[in-house]
Amino acid sequence: MTARILAQGIAKQFPGVQALDAVSLAVEPGEIHALLGENGAGKSTLGKIIAGVYSADAGQVFIDGAAVGAIDEVEAGRLGIGIVHQEGSLVGQLSIAENVFAGRQPTGRFGRIDRRAMRERTRALLADLGVTLDPDLKVAQLPPAQAQVVEIAKALSRDLRALILDEPTAALTLNETERLFEVCRTLAARGVAIIYVSHRLAEIFALCHGVTVLKDGRVTGVRRVAETSQDELIRLMVGREVHFARTTGARSFGEIRLEARGIAAAPFVRDASFAVRAGEIVCLAGLVGAGRSETCEAIFGARRLAAGEVLVRGRRVRFGGPWDAMAAGLGMAPEDRKDAGLFLSMDVAANVCATVLDKVSSSGRISSTKADALAGRFIRELRIATPSARHLVGHLSGGNQQKVLLAKWLAMEPDVLIVDEPTRGVDVGARSEIYRILRDLASRGLALLVVSSDLPEVLTLADRIVVMADGCTVGELDGATADEEQVLRLATRHTRVDALPVAA
Ligand SMILES: Nc1ncnc2c1ncn2[C@@H]1O[C@H](COP(=O)(O)OP(=O)(O)OP(=O)(O)O)[C@@H](O)[C@H]1O
Ligand SMILES: [Mg+2]
Repeated sequence: MTARILAQGIAKQFPGVQALDAVSLAVEPGEIHALLGENGAGKSTLGKIIAGVYSADAGQVFIDGAAVGAIDEVEAGRLGIGIVHQEGSLVGQLSIAENVFAGRQPTGRFGRIDRRAMRERTRALLADLGVTLDPDLKVAQLPPAQAQVVEIAKALSRDLRALILDEPTAALTLNETERLFEVCRTLAARGVAIIYVSHRLAEIFALCHGVTVLKDGRVTGVRRVAETSQDELIRLMVGREVHFARTTGARSFGEIRLEARGIAAAPFVRDASFAVRAGEIVCLAGLVGAGRSETCEAIFGARRLAAGEVLVRGRRVRFGGPWDAMAAGLGMAPEDRKDAGLFLSMDVAANVCATVLDKVSSSGRISSTKADALAGRFIRELRIATPSARHLVGHLSGGNQQKVLLAKWLAMEPDVLIVDEPTRGVDVGARSEIYRILRDLASRGLALLVVSSDLPEVLTLADRIVVMADGCTVGELDGATADEEQVLRLATRHTRVDALPVAA
């Protein structure tokens, strides 16, 4: 059988890094093939080369045995190669339908754009993905999970032969993920070859047939999924063993550092109450759209509090904005590292030091020696893969950007740290380090509020789990004893899955 997708001897260099070196990959028609590797291993780069976004320095891509020359994304689309990018490629100010059919709108008689057809086809594609959304909504209004679904619909709007999904579930949870799997299986059954990039090993075993592992731009292994194990894949990716231990045993906590009492905030939060004590890790669990991120933003002063109150160290606070919250000892690493979290066009040191300029200044001037030293500490501790502290954050791989975001808030040494999806897009090795660091911070007295859509992560990290559904806190569980089923039962008790945003 001829491979549907064959990449042979691919090499690609970026300034200072050999992103890919003699990489080969083969995917049969109807095969779902996982591409695994640590942050910066070269997965996205390989996907982009196959989809015509980048051109390779050496090597050749074949589709159904035919050599594909230098192509761009439009040409790739014509060849039936679709890609869903890790960082998203939608234009916020355009509608869902306009994004899905960008550049190739259906036309009616006299070449006029047929908006009705566009809307109807978009609606049908979204329905295929199990989502009801108004095709006229602007993408900027969508929460990340729904934007991701639109991204996928865009790839599906072509007649596909090959599809590359680069961490498609990073912003999805549970039912959305399950639905995406169904879509993948349907496409595969029609003969589409799928390259599936994910850091979640459980997904690989649930969905994929074959797997290729990259490390530092080279292939370290090709396996049938049925014939390998998590441990083997981790060894191939990381080159060592990694273990995740759950929080266990009796731990003692200090005073209540942060408390939310009946808070409400537009559009999703209706009634959230919980407390976080010094030394404690509280995880906010729930489905996408349950209002977890909005709750955090309301606490941090980034979203208007419509009702209820926030207490810090027992005193009621009213934050005019995040700066007030930071002055009160709160830090918050947001979910969206691209828009809200990082200065992509600045270097690692500038980002790490952004919240602590006083710490890296002497006599009123920023000292680059101090800034580099502070950044260097976090580059080592979090193992941020960057050529130096002077490297632009925008040029780092997604997972490494996430680590810089965490470093930026850790540098502030807050009393209460809110972290929204701390390991989204972060590889296994770095993830275990981030867990260790968060636990270590808690054991030194930090109060941590963590939002996570990754259930194993919640169970690994949490001292206490607060479950939200439909904008309300609906229950609490002991982190040491809870299981996935208990969390899910609370989270799905009464949910509004496709809830549309309402005006703020
Ligand atoms: N446009 C670019 N300019 C400069 N360097 C780049 C660019 N894109 C990627 N790189 C570098 O190439 C290497 C591979 O990056 P790539 O994004 O392919 O990794 P990845 O495996 O997708 O990682 P992640 O799991 O974090 O998404 C990294 O060292 C990265 O910093
Ligand atoms: Mg990537």
